[in-house]
Amino acid sequence: MDRIQFKVNGLSCSVGCEVSSDVTLLDYIREYLKLKGTKYMCREAGCGGCIVTVKRPPTLPYAVNSCMTPVTSCHGWEITTIEEVGNRKKGYHPLQTTLAKTNGTQCGYCSPSWVMSMYSLLQTNPKITMMEIEKSLASNTCRCTGYRPILEAFRKFAKDAPRPIELPDIEDLQICKKSGEVCNKSNCEEEEWCIVDKEGIFSDVIQFRLKDNRLWVRVNYVRDIFSILLREGDDSYMLVCGNTAKGVYPIDEYPRVLIDVSAVQELKGYTIDQNLIVNAGNTLTEFLNILQKVSSEEYFGYLQKLYDHILVVAHIPVRNVGSIAGNLMIKHQHNSFSSDIFLLLETVGAQITIQNAFSFKRTMTMQQFLRTDMRGHVIWNIMLPPLNNNYRLVTFKIMPRSANAHALINAGFLYKLRGSDNTVRQATIVYGALSPTFIHAAATERYLVGKKIFSNEVLQIALKILEQELVVVENPPDPSVDYRKKVALGLFYKSLLQIMPENCIGPRYRSGAINLRDTRPLSRASQVYDTKPQQWPVNQPIMKVEALIQCAGEAYYTEDIPSFPYEVYCAFALSTIAVGDLVSIDSSKALKYPGVIAVYTAKDIPGINSFTPPDSFLYSANEEVLCSGPVQYYNQPIAIVVAETRHIADRAAKLVTATYKNVKKPVLDVRETQGDSRKSKLYTEVNATEKGDDVTKNVKGMNSIYGQYHFVMETLTCVIKPSDEGLDVYCATQWLEGVQLMISRALKIDQNRIDVHNRRVGGAYGIKMSRCIQGAVASALVVTKLNRPCRFIQSLTTNMRAVGKRLPCVVNFDADINNSGVIQSINFNLYEDNGYKTNEQFTLLGTGAYNNAYKKSRWNYKSYDSITDTAKNTWARAPGTLEHIAMAELVMEQIAYETSQDPLDVRLANLDPEYEELRGMVNDVLLTSDYKKRRAFVDDFNKDNRWKKRGLRFALLRWTPLGGINVCVNVSVYRGDGTVIITHGSIEMGQGINTRAVQVAAYILKIPVDKIVVKENNTVIAPNVSLSGGSITSLNVVVGVRRACEELMRRLQPIRDQMDNPTWEQLITKAHQDNVDLQSHGFTRTDEEYPFPVYGVTLVETEVDVITGEFQVVRVDLCQDAGQSINPEIDIGQVEGSFIMGMGYWTCERLVYAPTGELLSDRSWDYHVPLAGDIPQDWRVCLRKNSYSSDAIFGAKSIGEPPICMAVAVGLSIREALVAARLESGIPTTQWFQEDGPYTVDRNFLLASTKIEDFKFK
Ligand SMILES: Cc1cc2nc3c(=O)[nH]c(=O)nc-3n(C[C@H](O)[C@H](O)[C@H](O)COP(=O)(O)OP(=O)(O)OC[C@H]3O[C@@H](n4cnc5c(N)ncnc54)[C@H](O)[C@@H]3O)c2cc1C
Ligand code: FES
Ligand code: FES
Repeated sequence: MDRIQFKVNGLSCSVGCEVSSDVTLLDYIREYLKLKGTKYMCREAGCGGCIVTVKRPPTLPYAVNSCMTPVTSCHGWEITTIEEVGNRKKGYHPLQTTLAKTNGTQCGYCSPSWVMSMYSLLQTNPKITMMEIEKSLASNTCRCTGYRPILEAFRKFAKDAPRPIELPDIEDLQICKKSGEVCNKSNCEEEEWCIVDKEGIFSDVIQFRLKDNRLWVRVNYVRDIFSILLREGDDSYMLVCGNTAKGVYPIDEYPRVLIDVSAVQELKGYTIDQNLIVNAGNTLTEFLNILQKVSSEEYFGYLQKLYDHILVVAHIPVRNVGSIAGNLMIKHQHNSFSSDIFLLLETVGAQITIQNAFSFKRTMTMQQFLRTDMRGHVIWNIMLPPLNNNYRLVTFKIMPRSANAHALINAGFLYKLRGSDNTVRQATIVYGALSPTFIHAAATERYLVGKKIFSNEVLQIALKILEQELVVVENPPDPSVDYRKKVALGLFYKSLLQIMPENCIGPRYRSGAINLRDTRPLSRASQVYDTKPQQWPVNQPIMKVEALIQCAGEAYYTEDIPSFPYEVYCAFALSTIAVGDLVSIDSSKALKYPGVIAVYTAKDIPGINSFTPPDSFLYSANEEVLCSGPVQYYNQPIAIVVAETRHIADRAAKLVTATYKNVKKPVLDVRETQGDSRKSKLYTEVNATEKGDDVTKNVKGMNSIYGQYHFVMETLTCVIKPSDEGLDVYCATQWLEGVQLMISRALKIDQNRIDVHNRRVGGAYGIKMSRCIQGAVASALVVTKLNRPCRFIQSLTTNMRAVGKRLPCVVNFDADINNSGVIQSINFNLYEDNGYKTNEQFTLLGTGAYNNAYKKSRWNYKSYDSITDTAKNTWARAPGTLEHIAMAELVMEQIAYETSQDPLDVRLANLDPEYEELRGMVNDVLLTSDYKKRRAFVDDFNKDNRWKKRGLRFALLRWTPLGGINVCVNVSVYRGDGTVIITHGSIEMGQGINTRAVQVAAYILKIPVDKIVVKENNTVIAPNVSLSGGSITSLNVVVGVRRACEELMRRLQPIRDQMDNPTWEQLITKAHQDNVDLQSHGFTRTDEEYPFPVYGVTLVETEVDVITGEFQVVRVDLCQDAGQSINPEIDIGQVEGSFIMGMGYWTCERLVYAPTGELLSDRSWDYHVPLAGDIPQDWRVCLRKNSYSSDAIFGAKSIGEPPICMAVAVGLSIREALVAARLESGIPTTQWFQEDGPYTVDRNFLLASTKIEDFKFK
C-alpha cells in the first residue's frame, strides 16, 4: 500500500489511508504526534499561528502555514517544529531567548510561531537585513504586544544590526564549493539531504484511498495527471499544489479525486526564448526569484516592478507553497477575486498555455483563459513578453493595512510612449476588484493613443472617459462602489505622476507620485522609565516568568491538553435570522452525516438555560446558552452538534436547519435607538453643578463608533471530561468561578463536583470573561449526555459571528462655549449598544470617565443602555471607558475646529482643576516631542503638498479603576528546599500577573525570584474568585500575595528569632520541624478599593495619501502613568499592546453587517487587525516619573486598559490630515464632519472629498 513519507524533527513519519482529506500538517503535528508547541487560530493562513519550517530540496528551508498543508502533501519533506528549535532539555535557541528577554511575549500564544517565522527566514536568507526582517514578518499576528519588542528582538539577528547575534545553526549552512553560494545541495551530486529513500520520493505515482473515500494521487509528470483524470473521470477533482486557495475560498468538502501536483518538475523552472516562459507550478516565491534574476536581462527590466508588487501578495509562508497556477485558477473559478497575479500578467500582455488529455498545448490571452472551460485542463506556463524602454509600467495594490490583505483595489498601467514627445502609442489600463467582469478600461486606452499624455487637458478628458466606462459592483464586505470607482480614477492619475519626469510636475503635486508604503523607514522606538534598585525585585524590569517556555512552545494552553479516550468534538449550529421565533429545528441531515454522534438543543438542558449569573458582580440577567424560542440576533446558537472530529462537527453544524415565524427586520445601528424608549433606557444621569455665563458660541454634534472583535489568537475553547465526582473542566476563561457556577446551574450538578482549571489563556481582552461560559456549558451538556470527554474549539468564524464585541455607542451633545473654547455648559447624552440585552454593566464602567479630564462641574451627563438586535456585546479592553473618553475627546476636537483653535489649548482650557497633574505631563510631552517645531513642520507640509497630508494630534487621558475583587491567594513553601508556589485563582492572559506575584512574594519573603513559581489555577484551590479584567486583577493579586506572604513571615518570625541569621532554607526546615503551617492564604475583598487616577498623554503624527486613502503612523509620543510600576518592562508591553489594539480600532478594523444582521467580515480574510508593518515608524513610550498610588499595592497603578483609550489620537490625527485635504476642495476647516467608525483607507479617501478636476500636473 502506498504511503506518504516525511520527517518531523528527524522522526520518520508516514501517512496513508488512515487519514482523511481534511487532515492538515497542523492536525498531524498536534493530534497524531502530540507536539502542541505549534498553535493555530484561523486555519486559513491569515493569523500565522501555525508556522513550521520545511526543508524540501532543492530549495532552502522555508516557512509554511501548517494549517493549509494537507499532511498527504508532505512527501519527502523534512519538517521542523518549535520543539526542535530549542527546548528546556537541549537548551533554548538564541531566537527564543532573545524574544523572551526583549519582552516579546505576553499571552505567548503567538510566540512559537514568531520564532518559527524568523527561524525559517534565517534559514532561507542568513544574510538578511533589518529592513528585510521588518518587511518579511507580515505573516504573523500578535494581538498583545504591539509588535515593537518582537521586531526589536529579531532585528538583532540581521547582518546590519549594530551587534548582530550569530547563530550556530545558521553558520552550519555550508557555502557550496561549486557555486560559492549558501549550499542548498540542489546542484550537488551527493544528495545527502535526501531524508527518505530516493525511491520513496521519486518512485512512480503514489496513490491511496483516504479514510473519507477520496482518492489521493501524487504524480511526478503532467501525463500522469491526464491518465488519472481519464481513469477516474473529471467530474470531481482538484489539483493540489500549495492548497492555499482554501485560505481565500474555504473548502468545506474536498472533491472525489485529489491529485498532488506539487512535485511535478515539468511545471517548475523557466525558459527564455523571445518571451520569458515561466512554468505555472512555480510557487510565488520561485516566481519572485525568477523575476529578480531575469529582470537584469535586456527588455525584461520591467519584471522588477512585478517583483515589487508580488512582495505584497499574501505573505511569505503562503508564497512559499502557493503557485502561479493555483492563483490564476482562483481567479478563473471566482472572477471577482482580486488576483494580483492575473492583474500583473494581463497588464503586461502575458499569455497562458494550457492543455488537456486530448489536445496539444494551447496558448491564449489571459482574458481568453478566464472564458475557457478548464475542466480536465492543466496550466503549463505563462509567457511574459519582452518590453523595450518605451514602455512604462506602474502597478498598485491598495490594502487596508500594510500587508497580508487582499487588494481593496489593484491596478496596472502600461504605457508605450514615443520617446521624443511622450505621445502615447499604446495604453493598457487594467483594474482588479471592481467587478467580476470589468478588466480593461478599453475606451480610455483607445482615447489615449496618439495623445501627449502629460497635459492637464488630456488627463481631464481621459478621467471623464474612464469614469464613464468603469463598471463597479457591490461586493460586501469589500469597500463601497463609490470608493472603488473614485480611487480607480485616482490611481490612473497617480500612474501618470509616477512616470512623468519629476521636474515637469508642479511641486505641490509631486507628493502624489509617492507610494507611502515605499517610503516607510525602519521603525524605531524608545521606552523610558525609572526603576529603583533599592526596591528590587519589586519595580525591577525582570523577564516574564513564563517567557522562555512561551517562546519554546512549552507553555500549555487549554487546547494543548492531550486528547482523552473516546473524546468527541462539537460545534454550534447558528440561527439564520436575527429576530423571530424558533419553531423547530431539523437536525436529520446533520445526524446522517458520517461521524456525527448527536445534536442537542435547549430542551436537553436540565437546569437553567443560561451562561451568565445574574447574582454576580456586574451581571444582572441570564443569557441563553441555546436559543429556546425567541431568536435575538443573527447567528445565535440554536443547537450543539457532536461528532467524531472537529472538522465533521463544523461541517455538520451547517446542515442543521430551523423554521422560524414572526421574522422581523432587525435594528442594527445604535443610532436608531436614540429617543426610542423601547430600545434605550436611561441608566444614569449626573447633573452639572455650575454653569459659565461667557457664552459666545454653541457647538452641537453627534458621533458614533462601532464594534471591535477581540481577535484572540486562542479562540473560545473548552475541554471537559468526566471526573470521579462529576466534571473536570479545562476552559480558556477569565473567570473560573463563572464557568463552574453556570455549568452547575444548567446541568443541576453541585458546584463541588465541577473542577474548573486554567493555566493561562492565549489572549482574552474581555471575550473570555463570560462568553466562554456559553461553550463551556454546552460542552458540559455533551459530556453528561454521552459520558464521554468533549473538546469544543470554536472556529474563528463562529467566534466572530455568534459572540458580541466591543460596545458601539453614539453620543449627541450640545455645548455652549466661550471664545477660548471653554465649555460653559454641555448636555452630553451617550447611548451604549449592549446588543440584544443589557447584562454586563458597561455603562457603569464608563460613568466615571464621561468627562475624561475636563471640567466635570459643567457637564450634564446622561447615559442610556440601548439594545439592538445584535449579539450581546461584551467586555473588550476598556469597555465603557474607551467609549466615554473617546467621545469626550471628540467634543474637544470639534470645539477646536469650529473655533479655529489649537485643540491642545482647548483641552487645557477645559481641564478640570482636580486633574491639574495632567498639565505637567502635557508639558513634558510638549518638550520631549518637540511639538512646536513639529507643529510648524506639519502646517508647512500641508501647505506644500497637495496629495500627502499630515496630522498631529493629542489625546489626554484620565482613568479610574473599578473597585475591588475577590482573589484567593495561597502561598506554600516546601520544607525540603524552601521553594515556594503561589496560586491566586486569577487568570494569566499576558498581563504578567504571575510575574508580578512572584516579584512581590520574593520581595516580602526576601528570597530570589527563581525560588518561586505560580501554578495552575483551579476552583479547588481558589473558589469564588472574581473575574479577571478591568485592569485591576494584577493589583488585587499583588495585595493577596502580599497578605499571604506577610502572614507567613509573621509565623516564621518567632523561629527566626531563635536562630542566628538563618538562610531561608534553614529557617523553613526549622519552621517545619516546629510544626509551623507553611501554607498561607491571602484574600481580597470586593469592598476594598485603592482609588487612584491614571493619567496619560499621547501625541500622534500621521500621514495620509489623499489619492488612495492609505496612511502611515509617522510618530507617536506616549506618556503613561503607571504609578510606581511593579515591573516597568511588563507595563511598557501593556502600554504598547493596548495602544496598537486601539490603533486597529480607529484605523483598519471594520465589522460589516448585511441588513439581515449577518456579519460579513467574519474571517481573517476580511477583518484586519494591525500587523508589524503598521506600527508607528517612530514610537516613543515613557512611564510617568514620580507617580505613586498607595502602599498597599506598592504604588502601582492599572495599566492594561488605559492606554487603548488614547489611541483615539490616531483617528484624530488622520482627521486633521483629512481636514487639510478637504480644505483644498473648498471645505472650511471649521466645518466638522462626522465619521462613524474607523478611519479606514476607503473612508479616508472619501472623506478627503477630492474633486477629479484637482487631478493636475501643474
Ligand atoms: C492568506 C492569503 C493571502 C493571500 N493574498 C493574496 C493576495 O494578496 N493577492 C493574490 O493575488 N492572491 C492572494 N492569495 C492567493 C494565493 O496567491 C493563492 O492561494 C495561491 O497562489 C494558490 O496556489 P496553490 O498552489 O496553493 O493553489 P491550490 O490551492 O493548490 O489550488 C487552487 C486551484 O488551482 C488548481 N490548480 C493548481 N495547479 C494547477 C495547474 N497547474 N493547472 C490547473 N489547475 C491547477 C487546483 O485544481 C485548485 O482548484 C492569498 C492567499 C492566502 C491564503
Ligand atoms: S492557523 Fe494557520 S495561519 Fe492561522
Ligand atoms: S503574545 Fe502575541 S497574541 Fe498574545
